[in-house]
Amino acid sequence: MASLKSHFFATLLPLLLLLHFPTVSFAQTLFVFGDSLYDAGNKQFLSQNRVDASFPPYGVTVGQATGRWSDGSIVPDYLADFMGIPHISPILQTTADFSHGANFAVADATVLGSPPETMTLSQQVSKFLENKNKWTNQTCSEAIYLFYIGSDDYLNYAKNNSSPSDDEKQAFVDQVITTIDSQIKAVYGAGGRKFALQNLPPLGCLPVVKQASGDVQECVKLPSEMATLHNNNLLQLMVKLSRELNGFQYSFYDFFSSVQNRVIKSKTYTFETGIAACCGTGSLNGTGCSVDNVCTKPEEYIFFDGKHLTQEANLHVGHLMWGADPEVVGPNNLRELMVLPLDITVILANIQEAMAAMRPRQRKIESLYDIKKMESEMENHWLYQFNEASSFMI
Ligand SMILES: *[C@@H]1O[C@H](CO)[C@@H](O)[C@H](O)[C@H]1NC(C)=O
Ligand SMILES: *[C@@H]1O[C@H](CO)[C@@H](O)[C@H](O)[C@H]1NC(C)=O
Ligand SMILES: *[C@@H]1O[C@H](CO)[C@@H](O)[C@H](O)[C@H]1NC(C)=O
Repeated sequence: MASLKSHFFATLLPLLLLLHFPTVSFAQTLFVFGDSLYDAGNKQFLSQNRVDASFPPYGVTVGQATGRWSDGSIVPDYLADFMGIPHISPILQTTADFSHGANFAVADATVLGSPPETMTLSQQVSKFLENKNKWTNQTCSEAIYLFYIGSDDYLNYAKNNSSPSDDEKQAFVDQVITTIDSQIKAVYGAGGRKFALQNLPPLGCLPVVKQASGDVQECVKLPSEMATLHNNNLLQLMVKLSRELNGFQYSFYDFFSSVQNRVIKSKTYTFETGIAACCGTGSLNGTGCSVDNVCTKPEEYIFFDGKHLTQEANLHVGHLMWGADPEVVGPNNLRELMVLPLDITVILANIQEAMAAMRPRQRKIESLYDIKKMESEMENHWLYQFNEASSFMI
């Protein structure tokens, strides 16, 4: 049965798609923008100082520290795996092969402001535009543009402002969203059509934030509130852009709920704990991760250090972005976004519908995760054949 089914997908489905959409093509290129969650090594090239992620225990699970802020692989690595392309190299590693895209993300990146030794979102997009001649126009249109940024903007804001009014909070979020808006339009202007966004987690639940507050039980309110406000506005921006810009396609992943569910009910999601980090010192191992204070089983933790996920948690995120339902990622997941013909805009009728599609229905997601995991792996398998079949036919 299984082989019959995959035979069907490998041979007939590409044919059907080609008949319906003569211009069908598959994204084989990934451009990555963001902060340390997506940094594949860029920080090492910008920093005069020691970059922690260049040394163990970072990379400990894969036996190599590469500048990734985890014990192993990060989300863009898994997404590249699922797309059937090599891991995407940091743009600052100038000798790397960029034929399948480039990673512009760098630790400490923000949307606003310009902390030293990093690149803001605008600087990352400029870097992409400067390098655009590395890829053909067609490659740039078919590519997936992946974004995760803003957590340091809001963590810094919460540090500086202890009790802002609702208007003040909204004004700050508006500044961040306005900049994201113009940067996404700059990428669209350069031919980009397929955008994938990972929203912000409950920032007040990060071990480093809780530890600093002195209350290890409760997630800190303001940073999580800012994240929620940001996430709502970011989704509204996606809906707006898909109305304004011809052929604008997107995938919006609700990382907030994924982290919240795993922090609250770690064991349901195969983790031992979502409270403390695997590596570091202090009540929650929130800071100062080093070889002297790393746990023996990172896969039991959601957080590797006070701010970053373990490889295991990154794998969950990768699977969910790639293959989960609209409750978790919508209106398209990445697997769908990748094969969506260009010039088709998938628009949700209105903002209420978009919000409803994103609202987590926890009960279902829980039973869904493992099934999705298996499915994603299966799909990955047939997509691989699918690619081979279609490139043969084209
Ligand atoms: C690529 O697109 C740019 C506009 O973004 C255009 O000026 C240029 O002529 C295009 N190049 C080719 C080879 O079509
Ligand atoms: C926080 O305060 C510092 C120091 O005054 C300032 O440089 C930074 O821009 C502020 N950040 C935010 C997000 O308000
Ligand atoms: C902090 O990390 C150590 C390893 O250094 C680990 O044994 C311990 O369980 C962690 N703390 C918590 C609260 O999990």
